Amino acid sequence: MMSPLEIRISDCAGFCWGVERALEMTLEAAGDAPAPVNSLGPLIHNPGVIADLKRRGVGVAGSPEEVTEGTVILRSHGVPRGTRERLAAQGLAVIDATCPFVTSAHEKAARLKKDGYLVIILGERDHPEVLGLRSYAGDDSLVVESPADLPEQIPSRKIGVVVQTTQSHERLSELVAHLAPQAKELLVHNTICSATEQRQAAAIAMAGEVDAVVVVGGRESGNTRRLAQLCALQQPRTHHVESAVEIDPSWFRGLRTVGITAGASTPPEQIEAVAAVLREVEP
Ligand code: F3S
Repeated sequence: MMSPLEIRISDCAGFCWGVERALEMTLEAAGDAPAPVNSLGPLIHNPGVIADLKRRGVGVAGSPEEVTEGTVILRSHGVPRGTRERLAAQGLAVIDATCPFVTSAHEKAARLKKDGYLVIILGERDHPEVLGLRSYAGDDSLVVESPADLPEQIPSRKIGVVVQTTQSHERLSELVAHLAPQAKELLVHNTICSATEQRQAAAIAMAGEVDAVVVVGGRESGNTRRLAQLCALQQPRTHHVESAVEIDPSWFRGLRTVGITAGASTPPEQIEAVAAVLREVEP
């Protein structure tokens, strides 16, 4: 009989402190704040956590217009400029759980705009965090995921860069290398958050040492998808799953070690459930 799979769980896998902070603020609001309590958009990209919050009395509002009374929670991704003030002016109790890393990126984008830079945002165009950043960076700002998204002629030679907090260093380096020869002045704010840096670095190191990787987290979660892409560059046998039920034992036939990592919105129970299934796999 073959020995069981050796399972490794990467450092910094799962909830980041910004998400933990938002969850704590939300649970506190569920007990104390004026009802009804709603978050503006799902608090995190995790259906299980959202269902649990619902049971505790925290609903999800799709837009600011949907919230007419009680308490509204602004999630860690942040909101576009002026949203918080408008909601408070409507008489709502506002709990701002915007991650401080995101707030710092907002401030940097606003400063670049004020100082006359054309702001280029490295990030996913429709992601809520990027929509918020854009409101500070100005209507003429550009959002790109890679140099391929840049216009042929960049409309300014005074360029400032800010980055969605969960992007990777590789992408930032690639963009900066492309912009530098075209700019007269290039000011880059590396606003990738330290939790993301540490999680990605630990996952990449682990992926280079194991025979397969399982990345756990929502398919809607951009930071989980990026984690899977980075691991796949080191270890092509990388599988992105939302939960333990998706695991196919045939992925691990003939292998000895498997590493697990997880995105910033993946709860510890979900990581443990994946580890428990892998412990039962006969390689
Ligand atoms: Fe904040 Fe970074 Fe998490 S920006 S919400 S600590 S992924």
